Amino acid sequence: MSVDSKKHSQIYTAALIGTGRIGFSLGFDKKREQPASHTMALLGNKRIKLIAASDTDKEHLAEWGDYVKGAKTFSSSSEMYKTIPTPDIITIAVNEDSHMKECLAAIAAKPRLIILEKPVALNSTEAEEIAAASEKAGVPVMVNHERRFAADYKMAKDYLKQIGKLQTIRGELYSGLRIYGKEFEKDGTYSLIHDGTHLVDIINWLLDEKLSNPVVTGIFKDDKNDIRNFSAHFSTPSCAEVTISMSGRSRFFSFGLDILGTEGRICLGNGYAKFYKRQESKLYTGFYSLSKDKTVHLPKKTGYFSNMIQNAVDFLDGIANLQSPLSAAIEDLKTLEEIKTAFI
Ligand SMILES: NC(=O)c1ccc[n+]([C@@H]2O[C@H](COP(=O)([O-])OP(=O)(O)OC[C@H]3O[C@@H](n4cnc5c(N)ncnc54)[C@H](O)[C@@H]3O)[C@@H](O)[C@H]2O)c1
Repeated sequence: MSVDSKKHSQIYTAALIGTGRIGFSLGFDKKREQPASHTMALLGNKRIKLIAASDTDKEHLAEWGDYVKGAKTFSSSSEMYKTIPTPDIITIAVNEDSHMKECLAAIAAKPRLIILEKPVALNSTEAEEIAAASEKAGVPVMVNHERRFAADYKMAKDYLKQIGKLQTIRGELYSGLRIYGKEFEKDGTYSLIHDGTHLVDIINWLLDEKLSNPVVTGIFKDDKNDIRNFSAHFSTPSCAEVTISMSGRSRFFSFGLDILGTEGRICLGNGYAKFYKRQESKLYTGFYSLSKDKTVHLPKKTGYFSNMIQNAVDFLDGIANLQSPLSAAIEDLKTLEEIKTAFI
């Protein structure tokens, strides 16, 4: 066996901090594309052995321990790091207010890679502290901005080359969660960063640019003075009008993008992906219209979670870069903080 093939059959050990929804239980949601939790995605990768988990919630931890046979469980990460050899991968899936503390502790344990849930931290100051520690210790961190790993979003990134010059991009995120209120900065329970990080991240990734200097309009406040609606307008080198609109008073959840080029259009979001191209019109002689591109065949599964884990394995094998590095996720947070200044 060559050195390379030996390396590419190596098993990487992994441990999970936080066995809640994204850490564990979403893996049982029958409506979601599976794997939909870190546990299921780690267990589903043949190159990974999930050896331990920690959670401060006894029930969550016990349920996890019953499911993942042979793995060890700990009521705190510090107990875990004292007891077992440091795993190759540490995944952090705790609530936002513990991201920094748990990520700094994981960095100090010196694994070969950390997978950190989004958003990086409560704010960019905390996020920069994580970045400084990561750099100092030489421990890389990737952030689970999952759409970067999804086949439909990868197709959209490729298809951008076929829709001519970009005219407008509209990103929308509608939910029932408040968008911003100062009192929620302490635990991150507001959708500007909780969900907005996905919206900014995917646009930055699709364009290979960074959204900055927003003009914010349409700010709507509720009777508690919490922000419930806004639109933020950006210009980037490739697109003169990028608009992000968020609502925190919708009785439904919706996430989507509408990308209009001079030759075509891409509409994609949770549950849909449509690709349109300029074609001779069926309605008017001598005109062109946009028609669905029948040459595009969408995959049955997007692989958003399993591809993320595979990127971690490929990175550790030395054959791929991290597709969602910490540095990019910190830029997302900074864009969201620029939007926030319009609220205060
Ligand atoms: N990438 C995505 O699309 C996605 C989806 C859902 C959640 N998330 C993110 O994942 C994180 C967790 O969200 P969730 O919905 O799973 O929350 P959750 O409350 O269901 O789970 C969090 C778990 O972490 C545990 N915990 C908290 N602090 C801890 C600590 N210091 N040590 C050990 N365990 C600790 C809690 O007891 C709980 O079991 C959040 O940052 C959230 O934004 C990301």
